[in-house]
Amino acid sequence: MIQSIAGEKYTCKAPGKINLHLLIGERRPDGFHNLESVFTALDFADTLVFSLSGEAGKTVLSMKAEDPLLELIRRGQVFEPIAAEKNLVYRAVELFRQKTGFSRAVAVEVTKRIPPGSGLGGGSSDAAAALLTLNGLAASSGAGPLSAEALLEAAAELGSDVPFFVHAAGNRAACEISGRGDRIKPLSPPPPLGVLLAFPGFGIHTGGAFGLLDAARRENPAGFFVPRSGVNLNGSWPGPETWDFSNDFLGLFLDRGAEGEKTLYRRMLADLKRAGASFTGLSGSGSACFGIFDSPEGALEAKKRLPGTPYTLHATFFLASRVRQDYNTRY
Ligand code: C5P
Repeated sequence: MIQSIAGEKYTCKAPGKINLHLLIGERRPDGFHNLESVFTALDFADTLVFSLSGEAGKTVLSMKAEDPLLELIRRGQVFEPIAAEKNLVYRAVELFRQKTGFSRAVAVEVTKRIPPGSGLGGGSSDAAAALLTLNGLAASSGAGPLSAEALLEAAAELGSDVPFFVHAAGNRAACEISGRGDRIKPLSPPPPLGVLLAFPGFGIHTGGAFGLLDAARRENPAGFFVPRSGVNLNGSWPGPETWDFSNDFLGLFLDRGAEGEKTLYRRMLADLKRAGASFTGLSGSGSACFGIFDSPEGALEAKKRLPGTPYTLHATFFLASRVRQDYNTRY
């Protein structure tokens, strides 16, 4: 996971993801929902720089934004500043300290590109990157490291999507995910397709989206329980035009969303299709939509065909399909 080491600084990338498929089951006694999903890691990533200098035991976090997050902020998307202690990276460092006794100073600079609340797992991936990096450094400092199993357990304590990113660091992967998000079955690497992301000017609170789905299902179970289709990739990926994937939140937003949001979702999905996408969908519980194109270059070309949109576009590709050198060092 550590990409480069300069002096006492350790840099690593935290990839985003899209859910090609997301079916939500019933609410469980622990308040979470069982789900069935296909997660694919993206080349699109935040960057974290760790330094171990400073006062022992202290954790300091600083954040800066780059595009497309910066572009969204320029367009007036409001992000409520959250206290450092609530940030998942900070919580990951503190949890790691608690589990291992790691007591060195930790300063983390996070360069955020993945918009919070977009359903692309930026915060979860940042937290996984922190766990993996500290685990790599712990061995030389006499504290830890955690076993692969203990690392996945720590990840699940931080959030439902964090175990995928701990796992994805090992194989850059596409995975079939079930349970609360903690049952992970690796899939064969997806084909080298392009992905064009579309961000509306708002983020979506995951807990709120699950609450809305529960309420809609109480009122109209037949309308909001999509029949289970299951994921049946059988070890190989058919062409995206034949993918039988869907997302329970998309139907919910198109039915129950505010009028302006519904119009925007319809427009984003129609624009992506018009620009040549062979498959379109919503990632996680939103807010980002995506289109799948024949190649990474195809996604870039499609972006050029959609100038001046009231939403922000970003072209990327599946991480597994083109492993870059800077993602290659790992634990
Ligand atoms: O685990 P995470 O913090 O990402 O979850 C945020 C919220 O989303 C949870 O508090 C829960 O309301 C909902 N959630 C859920 N079932 C899941 C994942 C998340 O109900 N499998």
